[in-house]
Amino acid sequence: MKKIFLIFKNKKIMYKLKDDIVQKIIDCEVQRQEDGLEMIASENYVSKEVMMACSNVFTNKYSEGYVGKRYYGGQENVDQIELLAQQRALKIFNLDENVWHVNVQALSGGPANLAVYLGVLNPGDTILSMDLSAGGHLSHGHKLNGSGIYYNIISYGVKKDDYLIDYDDIEQKALKYKPSLILAGFSAYPREIDWNMFNKIANKVQEKYGYKPILMADIAHIAGLIAGGVSSSPFPYFDIITSTTHKTLRGPRGGIIFCKKEFQKNIDRGVFPGIQGGPHENIIVAKAVAFGEILNSDFKKYTENVIQNAKTFAYELQKLGWNIITGGTDNHIVLMDITTKNNKETGLGGKIAEENLDNIGISCNKNVLPFDNRKPMDPSGIRFGTSAITSRGLGQNEIISIAQIIDQSLSNINNPDKLIKLKREIKNICSKFPLNY
Ligand SMILES: Cc1ncc(COP(=O)(O)O)c(C=O)c1O
Repeated sequence: MKKIFLIFKNKKIMYKLKDDIVQKIIDCEVQRQEDGLEMIASENYVSKEVMMACSNVFTNKYSEGYVGKRYYGGQENVDQIELLAQQRALKIFNLDENVWHVNVQALSGGPANLAVYLGVLNPGDTILSMDLSAGGHLSHGHKLNGSGIYYNIISYGVKKDDYLIDYDDIEQKALKYKPSLILAGFSAYPREIDWNMFNKIANKVQEKYGYKPILMADIAHIAGLIAGGVSSSPFPYFDIITSTTHKTLRGPRGGIIFCKKEFQKNIDRGVFPGIQGGPHENIIVAKAVAFGEILNSDFKKYTENVIQNAKTFAYELQKLGWNIITGGTDNHIVLMDITTKNNKETGLGGKIAEENLDNIGISCNKNVLPFDNRKPMDPSGIRFGTSAITSRGLGQNEIISIAQIIDQSLSNINNPDKLIKLKREIKNICSKFPLNY
């Protein structure tokens, strides 16, 4: 087993823990990440800089409150780093600081969403959001999430014929249920979003009822693609925008909330004291570093490659007979129906497919498909993403090989010798693209 301190020895940057038990688990995870391909759509590999920036003395510091208004002393450096992270966050999306505010304290994407609801809504208010099975997220109204417990959730979905967002359905429901907030945000939707259409629908509500619903976008998955300028942006039309920082933005695990200045007080209150106490300033350091990387690297090229890789991957799987939901992708997500190949039943479900691919070194996740009649723990779909493998440097040739390996793996589920061979092929690809830590 390769020890993490040996990998980093020459660069003298990684500390080997004295706690052997914990260190051993970290070593195993390093090995797993080195030897396998990360194709879970919500994951990425951060740079060495971001990784190192997560570990710093700000972890010692309590800093409840906001820049210039804290509840404890000793905040001069905390204020500087938080302000820098805010300035850079606005810059990566080209936002005017006179119009937009950003809260960088949200601990993650789910808490960021809850903070918004808490900040701008009253319990029982109506939220119109995408149904989980159509590609929405738990924090958009699942009955076991705070969103579904404290608010009245009305769901919209996708059309049966093409699995694209049903904007007519959104309009009808908006006019019927008079939502306080309309939420556009997705975890498993592979296509471009017509952000302006949401704005038009909100305007129709205003014409009919004299108020405009708050427009909230959750861009957790596609934030990096928007920052790179390769996906369309909700900023021209929306009031509040939440995101994670660890997916396509390639930062540390965390959340972020942008809002028009008129919502600043509500959003900041929603985060603290709404759902959080002290912010994790050590992670805000790493957010600042990640945003700096976006500003100072060819991030556009990275995001173009992410999408090109996803498109090729979808195309290759289709050529091999697999059904790709919506017939392709416009972003980093590829959703595949695992239950049929060449229009014939495979006898497979998402659970066994996920396990099968995990065993040969490809991480991906089982995913409910729109109108799925299988259970969430063993649905009809698998979701892939190309953000992480693109960060690792894989390009078109490797993508074509990976599609073929996946096809062979799923077609030889009961053939251990074949699976061992495929695992070796994946390891061989990985060895050509070592993790750069
Ligand atoms: C659209 C969307 N919003 C929110 C989240 C939740 O983020 P976190 O896991 O950081 O709480 C996710 C996570 O995958 C997501 O896809």
